[in-house]
Amino acid sequence: MQVEDIRPSGWACAYLVSNGEDAILIDPVWDHIEHYESILRERELTLIACMATHTHADHITACFSLSRDKDVPYIMWKDTASLGVTLYVDESTVLNIAGIEFSFHHVPGHTQDSMIIETDNHIFTGDFFFNGEAGVGRDDLPSGRLEQHWSSLEVLKRFPEDTLVCSGHEPPNTELQTLGWNRENNPILAMSSFEEFMKWQNESAEKLGSVSKIKVALPANIFAEIPDEIPWL
Ligand SMILES: [Fe+2]
Repeated sequence: MQVEDIRPSGWACAYLVSNGEDAILIDPVWDHIEHYESILRERELTLIACMATHTHADHITACFSLSRDKDVPYIMWKDTASLGVTLYVDESTVLNIAGIEFSFHHVPGHTQDSMIIETDNHIFTGDFFFNGEAGVGRDDLPSGRLEQHWSSLEVLKRFPEDTLVCSGHEPPNTELQTLGWNRENNPILAMSSFEEFMKWQNESAEKLGSVSKIKVALPANIFAEIPDEIPWL
């Protein structure tokens, strides 16, 4: 199994998981569909599934468009509000796609529908959990819940130390880190109280400010519709 972050630019990671013939995209961004298609063509890979770790507020997902155009499943957590999903998963689901086994862990907090996607030795954590100093994703956007996010951190105890963390946002060219490394370097995992977590989250939300694309991206993702005009393109 190969895993690669294939985003052409920006801070939103998009992962290509493949067995050398077939490919799965995790958290692809609509703006970059042509870029992904050229990579698939060059490497002679066939896209066979798309997954989203959660309903994104900062970009339009490529999942519903790719699912319709390529006739491949669009996979999300079972009670997501997002339309266009064709395959809903829960904690009892095990999918074998391209000979790669995927399982799913509900980690609400950043959004109600956030999940960790687990494959052999990798976890795709979306905005539930980032590598190192970046900590975790914010909880002040629609369906975000601080208390749930704090409780969901327990789920990380299910995975071994050498599990690689593939998160939803990393600085360009970041090297993947393990959960063990994060236990030393991610400030959230060093916290012992919810109050500490809440303070960190409130301060970080204040620093981040408003999400520039939310008014277009969130309805597009929920209703699985590309708007006539996308202001940033
Ligand atoms: Fe997010």
